[in-house]
Amino acid sequence: MNYKNLLVEMGNNVAIVTVNRPEKLNALNNETLNELYDAFLSIEHNAEIHAVIITGSGEKAFVAGADISELNQLSPLAAKDFAEKGQKIFSFIEHLSKPVIAAVNGFALGGGCELSLACHIRLASENAKFGQPEINLGIIPGYGGTQRLTRLINFSKALEYILTADFIDANTALQLGLVNHVYPLTELMTKAKELAEKIAAKPAQAVRLALKAMQSVKELPQSQGEFFEASLFALTTGTEDFKEGTSAFLQKRKPDFTHK
Ligand code: COA
Repeated sequence: MNYKNLLVEMGNNVAIVTVNRPEKLNALNNETLNELYDAFLSIEHNAEIHAVIITGSGEKAFVAGADISELNQLSPLAAKDFAEKGQKIFSFIEHLSKPVIAAVNGFALGGGCELSLACHIRLASENAKFGQPEINLGIIPGYGGTQRLTRLINFSKALEYILTADFIDANTALQLGLVNHVYPLTELMTKAKELAEKIAAKPAQAVRLALKAMQSVKELPQSQGEFFEASLFALTTGTEDFKEGTSAFLQKRKPDFTHK
């Protein structure tokens, strides 16, 4: 996959997507958003890929937001289309059938923070800074920030960050449960790859269904969520890896998963 503003590498059943506009702190212009959608669509349909990492190019930024030079001229109707387009792409990432790990290596602001929030797991470097500074531009978050930040951290904290535009440093993000781990910048990608490869080695169908069951928490009442869980649990018993995993346990040997 060759893109102007993205780098995509694949190996060990893991795809690494790097937003690559370091001179603009990896800000998401329209072209980059299109490329992100295209890359994640290909990854979704690539059976060899079991986990994904997304990060930013350079040592300063994950993604510093939507590209403000494109925002500046928007009319209300164009702005609605702009927000809905980003929301659809981030929702596609959130509903991907493979886990997506955000390796947040610097500023994750505005659309960059929202991109990280759409991922399933966030790892941060010590210099990472999260924030929704849209209010300083006279706008509000438009790529899902008001919804996902509120669900990930508590409502009044999310409200405070969105109304003040204050940045959240890596250690505060860890305390808030916004990130799973904080690492020195030089170790971030190694740790992200270790985690992605660890998950990629697990039975891919079970990983996919666990992800689906857990995503339903945000959308279903518990009784329906449990029904959904039981149905997906039942589906796992139709996989070859279920037979292999349980047989290997009973035969006291290591399982040899085929991801089928
Ligand atoms: N959109 C477009 N360009 C952006 C950008 C964005 N969201 N964020 C950074 N850039 C560009 C800057 O314009 C600058 O380009 P230039 O060299 O051609 O002038 C370049 O990236 C470097 O940014 P700069 O502001 O010089 O770096 P800094 O270290 O002084 O500040 C930030 C870093 C992240 C604090 C600052 O760039 C910033 O506030 N960015 C906007 C964040 C934001 O509001 N995001 C939400 C958008 S909805």
